[in-house]
Amino acid sequence: MCGIVGYVGSKTAVDILIEGLTSLEYRGYDSSGVALNIEGKVQLFKAQGKLQNLRNIVQNNYDEISKSTIGIGHIRWATHGVPSVENAHPHTCNCGKVAIVHNGIIENFKELKAKLEANGCTFRSQTDTETIAHLVATKYGETKDLTEAVRLATQEIEGAYAIAVIHQDVKNTIVATRRNAPLVVGFGEDENFVASDIPALIKYTKKAMYLDDNQIVTITPNSVKLIDIDNNPKELKIETLPWEPVALSKMGYKHFMLKEIHEQPDIVRNVLAGKLRTMDAPIELNEVTLNKEKLKNLSRIQIVACGTSLHAAMVGKYLIEDFCGIPVDVEPSSEYIYRKTITNENTLVIGVSQSGETADTITAVRQAKKKGSHILIVTNRPDSTMAREADSLIPVNAGIEVSVAATKSYMAQLISFYLLAIYMAEVKGSMPKDEVSKLKHELILLPQKIDNILTAKGDIQKCARKFANSKDFIFIARGVNYATALEGALKLKEISYINATGYTAGELKHGPIAMLDESMPVLSVLMKGKVYDKILSNAEEAKARNARMIALTNSEDFKLDELFENIIRVPDVMEILSPALAIVPLQLLAYYIAEFLGKDVDQPRNLAKSVTVE
Ligand code: M6R
Repeated sequence: MCGIVGYVGSKTAVDILIEGLTSLEYRGYDSSGVALNIEGKVQLFKAQGKLQNLRNIVQNNYDEISKSTIGIGHIRWATHGVPSVENAHPHTCNCGKVAIVHNGIIENFKELKAKLEANGCTFRSQTDTETIAHLVATKYGETKDLTEAVRLATQEIEGAYAIAVIHQDVKNTIVATRRNAPLVVGFGEDENFVASDIPALIKYTKKAMYLDDNQIVTITPNSVKLIDIDNNPKELKIETLPWEPVALSKMGYKHFMLKEIHEQPDIVRNVLAGKLRTMDAPIELNEVTLNKEKLKNLSRIQIVACGTSLHAAMVGKYLIEDFCGIPVDVEPSSEYIYRKTITNENTLVIGVSQSGETADTITAVRQAKKKGSHILIVTNRPDSTMAREADSLIPVNAGIEVSVAATKSYMAQLISFYLLAIYMAEVKGSMPKDEVSKLKHELILLPQKIDNILTAKGDIQKCARKFANSKDFIFIARGVNYATALEGALKLKEISYINATGYTAGELKHGPIAMLDESMPVLSVLMKGKVYDKILSNAEEAKARNARMIALTNSEDFKLDELFENIIRVPDVMEILSPALAIVPLQLLAYYIAEFLGKDVDQPRNLAKSVTVE
């Protein structure tokens, strides 16, 4: 969380900083700020709330501010201290000469703060970050060298951080460093950049360098110098980015989320392209570098992920166990990392993440790597920290996802899991060939079926209006669609703030049924197949408690009309593939409810797109 950006060159720094922060808004948006060296003096401009508030402040002071050609900027997702102007970054020291922006968490900030206060530092915010500002200022006082001051400061800091620092007395220089938080340097002509992520600098340069942990970079308009924490010079490893400047356009849609939902048919086509060629040809997954013999003999797979990616992983478990007969555990990364796990060199560990920057999942895969497991990463960001931990890397190719609520990346993860599970089944020979061919055929038909759902979205919109004022919502499903119920509930609560919960339909009567009455909508994910009749019985039980019944189904059974007040129909599909269809109406339902309630759909409260703290 939190985005940082720095610029030093000859252009108007604030323009580049604000534009950079705009492209980093997915990392947080509860406050923002910039620090600029204006005619030899470091000055801060900060605002609580959306970035627009900072833009307004900048606009009102533009004549003065636009003189500066060096600065650092920050967009915040609060960890220590409420979102407020005083807690917004940049932070500074007593004399105001040092300004610092930070992404991460300083774990020993209380001890550091006590020490600094004892030495006369006065704190103005509740943030952990302010300790770094005072610490760097103290070290600068001793060394009169900003790079050395930052290097010495980082030796006392515990935790995760990416920081960028300027000092009033050190002209045209930004010093930046990282540990367990992303940071990238951009190289321009007589100008250089630093940022949390590529979109902040891609408009200006395609030459970039990802910093490794504990490296410290000193940037001026004409030079970039890199050292490690022991002060050894390091070689610059400059890459040419394969990126095009990102067009963050809603393409006429009211919100990015709606646009991204509509991109899903094409994303399915993209993910399948080049991998699924014909019904008879084996799936080509060159990205999986695990030796085929080892793959055949795998005794265990563990999948770690968070949030929506965790739900995709749950579908993945179902597929791999069903197609390949290999036991698969799925666990939230945040749980996996704090217990004794039975992971070793015979385990394949799969990390799933849209951003590739989720701190818990990065830690989980690093732990597994230390134990000798092959690490397979499924991510939408092949340039991410997590991707760089991978032995095998499956990029899901969903394109930049702007809306905080994940939709198209979930679809791309699901389709990637279908391909992976079929690939593994083909290597192992664990599935009859005609079944594999049927699956492949049905996979190819998916985009058209998703298109059909999107065309009929008016019905879902009507249903959304009807239920928008509900205080609570229950989603039930079984089998491969249990994850669909969880994901549908997550989407709804994330963007509408309605208390929504997903249950396996069989669990309803073991407790949750107590909550049912005439005010409670119960949405049953009712796909034809093995568990259809069972879910129907569970839905009857809910109806008998006067719940308001909604069905999401591919069945034409006329009896459903008696049981359900609302029926959302999707095209017919094999049960095992149905999660990829069933989720689309649930995304739309959540979207239209939130939109009807006037919520901030793309940037819901308290959330950030990339959760880079544990
Ligand atoms: O980038 P990741 O997939 O690792 O992120 C994991 C979760 O933070 C993420 O899926 C979150 O739950 C989304 N807001 C869901 O819409």
